[in-house]
Amino acid sequence: MTVIRSVVRSVGAALPKRRMTNADMAALVDTTDDWIVERTGIRARHIAADNELTSDLGAAAAKQALVRAGVDPLDIDLIICATSTPDRTFPATAVRIQHMLGVSKGAAFDIQAVCSGFVYAMTIADSLLRSGQATRALVIGAETFSRILDWTDRSTCVLFGDGAGAVVLEAMPQHGGLSDRGVLSAKIRSDGRYEDLLYVDGGPGSTKTVGHLRMNGREVFRHAVQKISGVMEETLVATGFAADEIDLYIPHQANRRILDGVARKLGVSPDKIVMTLDQHGNTSAASIPLALNVAFEQHRIHEGNLIMMEAMGGGFTWGAVLLRW
Ligand code: ACO
Repeated sequence: MTVIRSVVRSVGAALPKRRMTNADMAALVDTTDDWIVERTGIRARHIAADNELTSDLGAAAAKQALVRAGVDPLDIDLIICATSTPDRTFPATAVRIQHMLGVSKGAAFDIQAVCSGFVYAMTIADSLLRSGQATRALVIGAETFSRILDWTDRSTCVLFGDGAGAVVLEAMPQHGGLSDRGVLSAKIRSDGRYEDLLYVDGGPGSTKTVGHLRMNGREVFRHAVQKISGVMEETLVATGFAADEIDLYIPHQANRRILDGVARKLGVSPDKIVMTLDQHGNTSAASIPLALNVAFEQHRIHEGNLIMMEAMGGGFTWGAVLLRW
């Protein structure tokens, strides 16, 4: 039986030039390198220049992915940008990226699921490709979280960074079995009861301002391990794979202690988990494709590998995508 699967053709990424270390943070707020490293694993993050927008980072990541795939931008008929820091309230940052790439066909739109944005975007793109709505997609995670941080709040400003990553995802005929390349299982979840644990205290429809990120870190932490490992288990059950059959885990990069907790719960060996938060911090929707890009550049990904992506973020939203490269 022939089925259509969404196969990752390539990955690309973009980081702002400006790098801020924990020592730079300590010059701004009452914190130390030791505290940040011990509680989070973060050592540095990149911060966008004043004139550097989410669309600039997203377009740069997309261009690298297109070049690596050998795909002409004009052959792209779907662009989804996951972001919570769009250039403008509207139109979508994806539409701006579409224009920057010289594309004027198909559809481009943003999705907003905060740190789970890339997993949501992959899931939506996979559905549109498999249903025949599109044939070749750019799935982008792009953020300038530095713009919504309260730079006087040490409990949040040390955690986040800016950046973007992108993949070219293409509809390809496969055999319909578990040895297929492409997305094999994708699950997205949300629960709005937890909205007040992680949110931005502004918005066009309420305060008419952009607002700043607010978080109850302890409570977020308490939910993260259970929700992330739960949804990953759902993708494993759906496919019949065991956790140790997965070749590489590309988690959302929020906090090393969350990643360690999930690894322990699922019995995954730490060397299978790609960790980039030490250099990027938490870049929200961009963190998974940025980590994927690092793994790709380190030659840790080979055709046929099983790859698990997972994330949890504000909402709460969470989800996982299991694919074969
Ligand atoms: N430097 C020094 N001290 C700090 C800092 C800082 N940057 N931030 C907070 N503190 C202090 C607090 O004021 C508090 O001091 P007090 O005891 O005198 O009141 C003390 O450190 C402990 O604060 P907690 O918030 O209880 O520290 P905790 O151990 O929970 O660590 C952290 C905080 C790192 C935010 C943790 O809760 C966490 O990682 N939570 C997960 C949240 C997360 O990752 N969010 C990302 C977005 S969601 C996602 O992507 C999954």
